[in-house]
Amino acid sequence: MRPPAEVIRHPRPPAEVIRSKRDGHALADADIEAFVRGLVDGGWSDAQAAALAMAVVWRGMDGRETTTLTRAMTHSGQVLRWADARFGKPAIDKHSTGGVGDKLSLMLAPMLAACGAVVPMISGRGLGHTGGTLDKLEALPGYRVQVEPDEFARVLHAAGCAIVSAGPQLAPADRRLYALRDVTATVESVPLITASILSKKLAAGLDALVLDVKCGAGAFAPTPATAQALAESLVRVGTAAGLPTRALITDQDAVLGHTAGNALEVREALDFLTGRDGGAAHDTEPVQRAVTLALGAQLLVLAGLAADEAAATAALQRALASGAAAEHFARMVRALGGPADVLNDAQLPTAPVQRAVPAPRAGVVASQDTRALGLAVVALGGGRLRPGDAVDPRVGLAAVRPRGHRVAAGEPLAVVHAADEAAAEQAVRAVQAAFTLADAAPAQPPAVQGVVA
Ligand code: URA
Repeated sequence: MRPPAEVIRHPRPPAEVIRSKRDGHALADADIEAFVRGLVDGGWSDAQAAALAMAVVWRGMDGRETTTLTRAMTHSGQVLRWADARFGKPAIDKHSTGGVGDKLSLMLAPMLAACGAVVPMISGRGLGHTGGTLDKLEALPGYRVQVEPDEFARVLHAAGCAIVSAGPQLAPADRRLYALRDVTATVESVPLITASILSKKLAAGLDALVLDVKCGAGAFAPTPATAQALAESLVRVGTAAGLPTRALITDQDAVLGHTAGNALEVREALDFLTGRDGGAAHDTEPVQRAVTLALGAQLLVLAGLAADEAAATAALQRALASGAAAEHFARMVRALGGPADVLNDAQLPTAPVQRAVPAPRAGVVASQDTRALGLAVVALGGGRLRPGDAVDPRVGLAAVRPRGHRVAAGEPLAVVHAADEAAAEQAVRAVQAAFTLADAAPAQPPAVQGVVA
């Protein structure tokens, strides 16, 4: 039954707006704009903002409300324009809805730069059980994620890519709401994720955007139907705002690659970029490589930098094989204050305690409770339980065995990197419980499950 129509006079106090959404009404544009203003000027308290977020999780928002929220959050701060920077290249970016072991941005940004794009990548921090690109990069000593717009442009000129935080001036409404959602179980909402991601991307002045909508146990969209709805919402709102946008729905029913945890993931990304991982021929977890190439190919075509996906994929592979992508990464790290020779001496911190997680029986890895693995990394200190918590860059999971991998009883399913013995012990138990072993290899879902254009 439709809720009865309301007679509304604006502006309304926060509690009235929350009550409307709680009771299932669509909010007026003025209510949404007042909420976003209140996020920035403090007119809405943390409790009120989190209550509205929870009401949206339950009651949703229609297309108009989502577009209004996105637009208001985009204009809650500065909107960058790159025309004056005279790159002479399209400004493009990819963004993920959040995953476990999702280090794709670290690999893709320099690959795209090596293929002739500029990549002004505004990234986020860990959210819920998922990791954040900024937390990963801060594992590199000295790497500064916060830059003023003129330095942002300088780094882009020097390296072709810059992975940085939104800074106080970009989409400040999202910064406050994101931190609250992280700790109030209000991440999983199509309109809130849409507005959060797109507000930062629209404020970044892009020419093209591809979204990696993760689907599965480690994603905020656990089912194909939710992932499809999120992909469609992102593409609809992005395109309506004038930004050419595509979305790929990709597999996150397992940890991506072999690591989850900040410094460990940077190490894996470096090995990928430099070919020290042995390249495609030695990849025992091909989803990460396949998704990286697919996202990159979509973007290069969308931005007019490649004629078709085959040509784009070949260009991305050349960028890896020639070392050009690695070189762009190194230039970015140097320009942002990180180690001067990151490819050879990344100076990544290591955890004092490393413990293998023994398989309780022989078998094939049939599935991973990926969310539980992400939460194990958070519990180790690799993510946040409260806004503002410091993260420990050293901790996480390494050598995570992929689906289909056969182990003997007692062989490692993963290696826990922990700050102390007690944390390691707890994580070993959590990781063991998160793996399901079977007698036969399970069918693998495709790495890319759909494209929304
Ligand atoms: N990434 C974001 O930037 N925001 C979300 O809400 C979820 C993932």
